[in-house]
Amino acid sequence: MNKSHGPIGIFDSGLGGLTVFHEIRNLLPDYDYLYLGDTARTPYGTRSFETIYHYTQQGVSYLLDAGCPLVILACNTASAKALRTIQQKDLVAHYPNERVLGVIRPSVEVVGENSKTKKIGLFGTSGTVRSESYKMEFDKLFPDVTLYQQACPMWVPLVENNETDTPAADYFVKRHVDALLKECDDIDTIILACTHYPMLMEKIRKYVPNHIDIMDQGPLVADKLDDYLHRHPEIEGRCIKNGESKFMTTGSADLFEENAEVFFGEKISAMHVELF
Ligand code: DGL
Repeated sequence: MNKSHGPIGIFDSGLGGLTVFHEIRNLLPDYDYLYLGDTARTPYGTRSFETIYHYTQQGVSYLLDAGCPLVILACNTASAKALRTIQQKDLVAHYPNERVLGVIRPSVEVVGENSKTKKIGLFGTSGTVRSESYKMEFDKLFPDVTLYQQACPMWVPLVENNETDTPAADYFVKRHVDALLKECDDIDTIILACTHYPMLMEKIRKYVPNHIDIMDQGPLVADKLDDYLHRHPEIEGRCIKNGESKFMTTGSADLFEENAEVFFGEKISAMHVELF
């Protein structure tokens, strides 16, 4: 069986995964990376299970066929709706030597440890919340945790349309923060379970009382990936280290380049690919 050497693959429904990727690359700058954003079909958060699985599976296959020994699903919605089937079905059948990891388990591990009251809040897309994936993972790892979830369908469009610093952002952020905190007044940790929400951090912090920790996924996913690579030398040894990153998009490369800076914090150049 061919055991490829290649870059670490990062998959997201679009641009948001760049917030996670940026933290990964900061912590682990020596590796090569291949980022694929499915901007032609974003957002995933409001789509059906079947559609999200189908799109994610196509993106992941592209990265594995390009030689990535390891792919990170930087997207919460894809991790919630597609990861398990990809790991249990697609990898076993077609890519037995490759690995695909998501963002939910590492987030749950860190956030579950952080909480003292064991009352945790979550903001996510409708798809992530409806999937109950976070709840299932908390039930497995921290059965004493009670999870309170809020779907925030307007937050991704606010970020995508550069409306994070407007009265509309205040309105929609306050609305969901109030709704979450009304459910339980003992929440001490909130997880931002969507790639776009760190871009709303200032507004979220404005309405969330200071004693509540707000956990941004990027840094914790990067830490957990570092840990994974140390524990899995058979995968780590196949990850190429020239410190190079490439960016692919299923949509317009020009648009991707134009919008990426907001999420990634620096200018990048991108290439268009067809998955379908
Ligand atoms: N990347 C998605 C997530 O983290 C947000 C954008 C979308 O809905 O596709 O859930």
